[in-house]
Amino acid sequence: MENFTYYSPTKFVFGKETENEAGKLVKEFGGSKVLIHYGGGSVVRSGLLDRVRASLNTEGVPFVELGGVKPNPRSGLVYEGIDLCRKEGVDFVLAVGGGSTIDSAKAIAAGVVYDGDFWDFYQGKWIEAALGVGTILTIAAAGSEGSPDSVITKEEGMFKRGASGDAIRPKFSILNPALTQTLPPHQTAAGITDIMAHLYERYITNSREVEVTDRLIEGLLLTMVHEGPRVIADPDNYEARANIMWAGTMAHNHSCGVGRSQDWLSHMIEHEFSALYDVAHGAGLAVTMPAVFTFEMEHNVMRFAQVAVRVWGCQMDFEHPEVTAKAGIEALRNFLISIGMPSNFKELGAREEDIPQLVDTLCNGDGRDGTISGFLTLNEEDCTKIYKMMI
Ligand code: NZQ
Ligand code: ZN
Repeated sequence: MENFTYYSPTKFVFGKETENEAGKLVKEFGGSKVLIHYGGGSVVRSGLLDRVRASLNTEGVPFVELGGVKPNPRSGLVYEGIDLCRKEGVDFVLAVGGGSTIDSAKAIAAGVVYDGDFWDFYQGKWIEAALGVGTILTIAAAGSEGSPDSVITKEEGMFKRGASGDAIRPKFSILNPALTQTLPPHQTAAGITDIMAHLYERYITNSREVEVTDRLIEGLLLTMVHEGPRVIADPDNYEARANIMWAGTMAHNHSCGVGRSQDWLSHMIEHEFSALYDVAHGAGLAVTMPAVFTFEMEHNVMRFAQVAVRVWGCQMDFEHPEVTAKAGIEALRNFLISIGMPSNFKELGAREEDIPQLVDTLCNGDGRDGTISGFLTLNEEDCTKIYKMMI
């Protein structure tokens, strides 16, 4: 296990009707004027936005609102949010929605207190300061409710990039699993896939002797394998949604990633899909992961064989561990298909003729040097092979 510092100070408030505590929580963390940030309207239709407004009014906390965050959130609305916060004297940003809304809120919070262009953070500058951010989560997926990360797409060039800093970790996150019951099945399944990807990206490591985090990850993956089909079959199953929601937070608040190197190649390769075709991040990952893992497998076959045995119940073939490893990847692929996720370019809406463009933006776009690194370092030829494996 490698040395690490673990810092994850978000206050999580979990359970039914907890959104009504929003006003109190904003005050507890020093907010005196709030920007309520939300997406394309699901929180309006469900009545959640009204309940949040009422909670802030009860506590006497003034607020302004900015809706319209799109999935795969864009830089344009971030600039608008920064201007609005400065003009209105906002000191706390409350995200009501999914990962996209939360990430947009984090970008605004960092941008308001920064003199330069907020995109600097998405080109690698660590975020040192930001307004306080709180979240009310409506989809179990991205894990942004407990992460120090934000992913934004720059409209000029359509670069989808991430930024990080402890300053944008949410001060609090309200997790009411019942709020996720209005999700369309495709979004529920995409969320499950993203959670599993966050677990796999940490599991695929070059660090040795990391049994405690291996076992945590395996436990959470097993939970997803159990609860995923239950919630797809019965979208109103509160208990299944509750388990998935907490797994989503645990998967990405870094408790499973400490003391080990991580991968994240599948995420980088997927981000080009969601930037170019505007597909759900989780759906892109369902197509990406099996191909990336198949490509990576030879680098450490036993790592992939271990997850195959411990999570997917595959029989260990000691003479040919690659057979076991491959069986685990196939089990993952079949599971994702069973919950309604795409498994190839066509089903995702991607085009073979776009591969050169996908590879170029991935490896060279926005300041990259022709390679991407995680479990392995991949060059343009490797990435081309991986995209071709998904056709
Ligand atoms: O915009 P609205 O109308 O709210 O609709 C959303 C959106 O269309 C809808 N939705 C959300 N909650 C709902 C609901 N519809 C009905 N009922 C509800 N309760 O679902 C759609 C997807 O929402 P989105 O916020 O995009 O989903 P998700 O949480 O999967 O976020 C995806 C984004 O997070 C980024 C992804 O790249 C992507 O841009 N990620 C952020 C990470 C982070 N900050 O740590 C890590 C992740 O790996 C990921 O990259
Ligand atoms: Zn993700």
